[in-house]
Amino acid sequence: MPAISQLYFKTAIALLLVGIAMGLHMSISGNHNVVGAHAHINLLGWATSALFGAYLALNRAKATGRLPFIQYGIHVVGVLLMTGALYVYLQGNAAMEPLIAIGSILFALGAVIFAWIIFKPE
Ligand code: HEM
Ligand code: HEM
Repeated sequence: MPAISQLYFKTAIALLLVGIAMGLHMSISGNHNVVGAHAHINLLGWATSALFGAYLALNRAKATGRLPFIQYGIHVVGVLLMTGALYVYLQGNAAMEPLIAIGSILFALGAVIFAWIIFKPE
């Protein structure tokens, strides 16, 4: 498997464990206030990261060069910022809103770059 896919899967499984911990904490406490952060860390952090890693493993020609690593960096910072700030925001800290916005924009940018990786000629 290419190095970028290894990196993506290691990141994805770490974020899944954090997402599961959040889910278990919500279930055990009976307080579902952080459901948004839980849903997004699982779906952006685990599912989307694993899909990016899987695509690059299946299309090794697309996994070469610096672009996939730049895309990875933007995606991971975006997911961590968006979901981390959302987690704190949902516990009542409204000052987190700009960080959620910046994280969301970085995540969106990462998705656009990944679209370019998929569509660019090999
Ligand atoms: C042990 C593992 C998990 C536990 C205990 C757990 C627990 C929960 C809880 C308590 C909620 C809130 C439900 C509500 O208030 O409506 C929730 C929502 C959600 N969970 Fe999990 N979860 C787990 C794993 C996952 C995983 C692995 C994913 C995705 C890959 C996931 C995706 C979601 C989504 C998308 C929602 C929001 C659903 C909605 O909007 O109705 N969860 N989870
Ligand atoms: C920049 C990207 C994204 C932004 C800004 C965003 C924003 C939002 C917002 C504002 C909500 C409504 C939350 C609420 O009413 O409490 C939401 C819900 C949801 N989003 Fe996203 N989203 C993004 C990406 C995604 C992606 C890529 C997925 C799936 C792969 C996803 C899955 C969900 C799900 C399952 C819900 C319902 C669960 C919940 O209520 O938290 N989102 N999102």
